[in-house]
Amino acid sequence: MTIRHDVLIVGAGLAGLRTAIGLAEHCDVAVVTKTHPLRSHSVAAQGGINAALGKDDSWERHAFDTVKGSDYLADQDAVEVLTKNAAAAVYECERWGTAFSRNDDGTIAQRPFGGASFPRTCYAADRTGHNLLHTVYEQALRLGVTVYEEWFATSLVVSGGRVTGLVALELSSGDVLGLASRAVVLATGGFGRVYGRSTNALINTGDGCAMALRAGAPLKDMEFVQFHPTTLYGSNILITEGARGEGGVLTNSEGHRFMGEYAPDQMELAPRDIVARAIQTEIDSGRGVDGQYVWLDLRHLGASRIKERLPGIREICMHFGGVDPVDEPIPVQPGQHYSMGGVHCDWTGKTPVKGLYAVGETSCMSVHGANRLGGNSLLETLVFGAVTARTVAKDLASTGEPDVTAVEDAAFRERERLQGLLLRKTGSRPTDIRRELGPVMDRLVGVFRNETGLTEALGRVRGLQGQAQRASLGETDREFNYALVRALELENMLLLAEAITLGALMRRESRGAHWRTDYPQRNDEEFLKHTLVTGAPGALAVQYTDVHLGRFEVKERKY
Ligand code: FUM
Repeated sequence: MTIRHDVLIVGAGLAGLRTAIGLAEHCDVAVVTKTHPLRSHSVAAQGGINAALGKDDSWERHAFDTVKGSDYLADQDAVEVLTKNAAAAVYECERWGTAFSRNDDGTIAQRPFGGASFPRTCYAADRTGHNLLHTVYEQALRLGVTVYEEWFATSLVVSGGRVTGLVALELSSGDVLGLASRAVVLATGGFGRVYGRSTNALINTGDGCAMALRAGAPLKDMEFVQFHPTTLYGSNILITEGARGEGGVLTNSEGHRFMGEYAPDQMELAPRDIVARAIQTEIDSGRGVDGQYVWLDLRHLGASRIKERLPGIREICMHFGGVDPVDEPIPVQPGQHYSMGGVHCDWTGKTPVKGLYAVGETSCMSVHGANRLGGNSLLETLVFGAVTARTVAKDLASTGEPDVTAVEDAAFRERERLQGLLLRKTGSRPTDIRRELGPVMDRLVGVFRNETGLTEALGRVRGLQGQAQRASLGETDREFNYALVRALELENMLLLAEAITLGALMRRESRGAHWRTDYPQRNDEEFLKHTLVTGAPGALAVQYTDVHLGRFEVKERKY
């Protein structure tokens, strides 16, 4: 049986659902998602969404902060679209029912965030993503968008040079099915779980990026991995930047507030790459607590403000860290948080492969360049979800029917491949390989990088790819076979780990979140470029393409 829709969207987080809402009035759109939509990782976003709502703020200021924060690698045309449409995106969600926190006069409250020259981050306490995702999901339900919940998309189908659908595993039955469509939009989020220490949900394995690469779409700027400065020591759960926005301070084992040495003007509210490096430097220099973390101190904010503005953070600290931030400082360390890189596309969502689009964290448009500002990610999902929907709707007018036979053939081949995987008796377990991958990436492709470490990491990742090809699941059930899901995710993660590491090895400079201790300067002459990775596992290749410069002159970045 081959299912048919005009458009398939893979991923049901904010980016996927906002795209679906934009398309629902134009065509038959369906969303394929490996979890329930409300368990998508957007739900975990805490601190907020940026928009220049204040009368003394402007989209131009927001755009400048974003470009400077990106270490000038962002495409400025994309940044303009993001910031010009920010207020409308926030007000649209407000009208749909998002429970934003309010000022006394009833206007939407905004807090300061890192790298921003104005307090422009709108928030719903510290559960902004949760509020937005529920709002947007309700709208998708209202419009009757079809959702294939707990279906794992395994591959894209390309026929005659264009994407004509995909193949997916229905988890409840174990059936492998073909879904034909005239366009596919990838919105599967980031790939943070390639790292061991990550704020990301376990589902963030980069399935969309890996599928795109296999279908011939390049991945862009994969080496730019964001490490959030404040993740809870022990579990690496996110401790929102909003905690510093509300006035939280960072101190080392000597009780010293160290950010003055690293970013004298913006202190704890410097951009994330700078704060993460500062914390890591303190730890590496012997001024960390137990050699592992520093303190984030909120006590001076007082119990009522913590309970009102940061209730989720307090709960997380109490349940997962054993500390109440009202009375004690929070132990924090940097951890992987966001993937600036992703599927190469322009700001309209188009990839170089006909019929294939990408949006949200899966995509690299590139609005974040070498370092994303906090609060710009939720914004990106909503603004570019709407934009991508318009692009797809327009392109459909000149797109014919999908090649159903190609989809049926691809589903047949995938069934055979997965059957072979299920029946394999010898080989390591995918979960054991995954457990090895994280620490390799944390240690060798982390906040600080160098040639020796990156070369070792590339060898280790390629070795793990070999093991993964021979892995056995130890679990042959058809229904809800999560061992099979973990094995498919692992293939994707290893491919992306290779792309990240190769990009980092080839980029012999330091820019934004990519810091090479052996090349500590930014080198605009050679590397004011986007990295493009193409090819097959074990043999990826790197090329470069121009950054779209614009109204903001490239300068040294100081905070
Ligand atoms: O710190 C945070 O709340 C994260 C926000 C973001 O990644 O945009």
